[in-house]
Amino acid sequence: MDIKRLLYSTEDGICTVTINNPDALNALNSLIINELGFVFDKIAKDDSILVVIITGAGRSFVAGADISEMADMDQIEGELFGARGALLFRKIETLSKPVIAAINGFALGGGCELAMACDIRIASQKAKFGQPEVSLGITPGFSGTVRLPKLIGNSMAKEMIFTGKIIDANEALRVGLINSVVEPHDLMTKALEMAKMIASNAPVAVRYSKEAINYALENRTETAAEFETRLFAKCFSTEDQKEGMKAFLEKRKPRFKNR
Ligand code: COA
Repeated sequence: MDIKRLLYSTEDGICTVTINNPDALNALNSLIINELGFVFDKIAKDDSILVVIITGAGRSFVAGADISEMADMDQIEGELFGARGALLFRKIETLSKPVIAAINGFALGGGCELAMACDIRIASQKAKFGQPEVSLGITPGFSGTVRLPKLIGNSMAKEMIFTGKIIDANEALRVGLINSVVEPHDLMTKALEMAKMIASNAPVAVRYSKEAINYALENRTETAAEFETRLFAKCFSTEDQKEGMKAFLEKRKPRFKNR
């Protein structure tokens, strides 16, 4: 596939994906949704990639789904468009490697929803967040009503979605929407630092941890605890568990092999 609106490259196991349509503030149109799906499928299959960072080119992370594309849609087209966005974000949420959103600017509508589908959100002081869909006559369409209450609680999620208000990065941090706020020029350095810390750990253990947390968020405590026990047990059949514990006892750094 000829990728037109994304830049992506991998170094030391860390793949950086940049949405690159800055003139339209990286609004998500069908092309970008397709390209992200394609690239995330490739990332899923590539064992050399341990962590993903996603960011936007220019002054925006993603300023929402593309309003010019949605303006003339009918109900069926709206459903197809919403379903494609929702599937893409679920793919990112369930990717077998951690995804860090490095939020450089506007994260509105589909942009806020994309950030929420990632595992960790680091924002620039310049970032702005919101779900302004109701001001356009629609609900959030890429699972914003599903993930926002889980992240920031029912009351705050309803306030953000019903008012459509835009909040700055400090407020997003205060309400628990993001992990941290950094100076704009430090954003990618901080995201890379975190990605490297994650990549230095046993990849299988990181992957199982993500799976277990996602499962626990969607299931009963007892079932989730059993699920964690199974993954915990499976770690003992990996070379990396032997290496990690041996290295600790030998007072040296482990050399993990992702197996
Ligand atoms: N869909 C399509 N195009 C968008 C867009 C979106 N969600 N967000 C921004 N753009 C386009 C603008 O139409 C404009 O294009 P133009 O230069 O061809 O006119 C360009 O990006 C720059 O945006 P502009 O509005 O001129 O920048 P600004 O700094 O004045 O305002 C925003 C920035 C983000 C506040 C404003 O663009 C905005 O409110 N965007 C829509 C946000 C939204 O409602 N998202 C949810 C969609 S469901």
